[in-house]
Amino acid sequence: MICLGIESTAHTFGAGIIDDKGKTLANVKDSYTTVSGGIHPSEARRHHEAVCDKVIENALIDADIKAHEINLISFSQGPGLAPCLVVGMEKAKELSKKLDVPLVGVNHCIAHLEIGRLLTKAKDPVLLYVSGANTQVIAYEGGKYRIFGETLDNGVGNFLDAFARLLGIGFPGGPKIYELALKGKNYIELPYVVKGMDISVGGILTNLKQKINSGSYKKEDLAYSCQETVFAMLIEVAERAMAHCEKNELLLGGGVCCNKRLQEMCNKMCNDRGSRCFIPLNNVMVDNGLMIAWQGILEMRNGTKKLNKVDIRPYWRTDDVKVDWR
Ligand code: ATP
Ligand code: FE2
Repeated sequence: MICLGIESTAHTFGAGIIDDKGKTLANVKDSYTTVSGGIHPSEARRHHEAVCDKVIENALIDADIKAHEINLISFSQGPGLAPCLVVGMEKAKELSKKLDVPLVGVNHCIAHLEIGRLLTKAKDPVLLYVSGANTQVIAYEGGKYRIFGETLDNGVGNFLDAFARLLGIGFPGGPKIYELALKGKNYIELPYVVKGMDISVGGILTNLKQKINSGSYKKEDLAYSCQETVFAMLIEVAERAMAHCEKNELLLGGGVCCNKRLQEMCNKMCNDRGSRCFIPLNNVMVDNGLMIAWQGILEMRNGTKKLNKVDIRPYWRTDDVKVDWR
């Protein structure tokens, strides 16, 4: 069985192709970017509409297969921005009809975890998922994927991008802040906001803004201190979830986890507690179609799924997903 998966929750329009043995055949994407940083949903939708056919065509070329060899179409049903999700769903419906193959909508956050399990061989990990809009600690417990911790306001990626805008260093901010932080030497104290299992970054951004405006701090030191503080918060909640669930594997996902300093801190925390840290390649940690294709395979492999209503689910919660593939 070969599945083509379509991702379109936010910035990225992606198409991935994978077979039921888990062999990657293609993973192509095109991402909408802005100079100023913020995502404008209707502009992102126009971007996706403009590139979708080409991305899918290139995925078929990379996979070296013809469209009629596809047996299943999957797409990211949510959570995400409605105007973006609709483009992926419409494309998926169109292809499924044209090729006369089944269609399945999947959950984006869970797909991040499942592709990580497939490619890193992690068995039952706690996922630290840190992207632009999402920041969640997810684990499989009692027959469901549950969120053990999350941000109470903004995703860490969007927070870092906003901080980079304040510093005037461009978009996307994550990689630029990382470079700047390498040159930072002095740790400047910032608010450290962990509430139970959750984190919050809004107050830290306000504090950073005040510090930038005061003109008394070096950009490098602020970037360094920001990373050290916010990443420590992520490590704390991830570690607490691991302890609570008694799991000894940590898996990383989401664009922010491409950050080498965050990876180093995750590795250290795992080593200290005798656990293992699994880090997929960057191109599967950021949003991608491959994870959607694999999730489609997982959910349809047994051919049991009833497909009645197929629609987008912009606010779909991870713990609302019925798990019947594990
Ligand atoms: P969603 O939240 O729906 O998953 P997204 O498009 O915001 O969507 P990602 O592509 O996973 O998600 O992540 C984007 C974030 O990752 C941005 O904030 C960006 O700055 C950060 N990022 C991407 N690459 C790197 C990198 N190499 N180092 C550090 N940060 C990075
Ligand atoms: Fe994502």
